[in-house]
Amino acid sequence: MLAAFASSTVFLACYLYYHFHAGVIRFQGHGWIRPVYFTLLLSHTILAIVVVPMVLVTLSRALRSNFERHRAIARWTYPIWLYVSVTGVLVYFFVYQWFR
Ligand code: HEM
Repeated sequence: MLAAFASSTVFLACYLYYHFHAGVIRFQGHGWIRPVYFTLLLSHTILAIVVVPMVLVTLSRALRSNFERHRAIARWTYPIWLYVSVTGVLVYFFVYQWFR
């Protein structure tokens, strides 16, 4: 989990650096795929913001050996983090591979 946290932090730094320089990239798909894509993007974006403080609290409770409270929040943090990771890769494929 510490390795996952470290790699996520490096990814976020690279992601922000890239988007500051690359500007806005628009989705090129047409028709029924647009609502599918934007629903995915919206849920991904909202949960990506929500999960950051959750990960910090989850880690902090574990590192202070407060495992009772760690478990209570980790039950939510883990699936949300997984959802954000998987949908992030899907959004990448939608924008840069499948609908260029
Ligand atoms: C953000 C990072 C982390 C996430 C998402 C996470 C996730 C989880 C999850 C889903 C569980 C099982 C909860 C359940 O039983 O319902 C758990 C349990 C546990 N985690 Fe983590 N974990 C993280 C970081 C850590 C770290 C860094 C440590 C070690 C310092 C740790 C130690 C433990 C321990 C000892 C348990 C078992 C607690 C018990 O059964 O009483 N976790 N964690």
